[in-house]
Amino acid sequence: MNTREENVQRFEELMNTVTREGKDDLMKYLREKTDFYTAPASTRFHLACEGGLLQHSLNVYDCLMDKKDSPIWKKTFDTISDESLVIMALLHDFCKANCYVKSTRNQKTYDPQKVAAANQHQVKHDDTGDFIWETVPCYETDEEMPLGHGEKSVILINYFMKLKREELFAIRWHMGFSVDRENYKALGEAMEKYPIVLALSEADLEATKLLEDELGNK
Ligand SMILES: [Fe+2]
Ligand SMILES: [Fe+2]
Repeated sequence: MNTREENVQRFEELMNTVTREGKDDLMKYLREKTDFYTAPASTRFHLACEGGLLQHSLNVYDCLMDKKDSPIWKKTFDTISDESLVIMALLHDFCKANCYVKSTRNQKTYDPQKVAAANQHQVKHDDTGDFIWETVPCYETDEEMPLGHGEKSVILINYFMKLKREELFAIRWHMGFSVDRENYKALGEAMEKYPIVLALSEADLEATKLLEDELGNK
């Protein structure tokens, strides 16, 4: 994983290529009013670490740009500007800024050294072996603006900078078929209308499943 400073620099450089009105205000908000550059990407599933959201956004950008060279996607990508790809990838999870707070949780620890060092009355036993309970840091969600997920990203971005239709659709539906079943029809129609919706949701999944671990890039 790159350092957070390297990622901030890369994120800023990419966003500098966006020339749309309102972008500077959006970036000022992102830098000064949100924790986008330090927030995790999730509470525990992928990149649940400081700078995780930033790293995830860049990973999605890399996965999306990889598709550009694929003959399958050529027709779709020929109609989308590089600026749009930057916006879709880097801001798709804008909804996750200011959404996580640091906390602690108790977990079983089977580490023999820690178990040996603990007081005997703290040592428990289950099918896996001897363990102790250990308090470890974690993130919890603290959602101030429950507007949905992709929906919230779209609303927040549009507040500063007007999204083009294909960007709006792609960000709104970037969770693909992990949305509720009653949304499948609308999602399918959005993918038919704008295949980049499918590309961004694939890039999001590829980043999450292929590039990222719980606490860093693979
Ligand atoms: Fe997301
Ligand atoms: Fe994502």
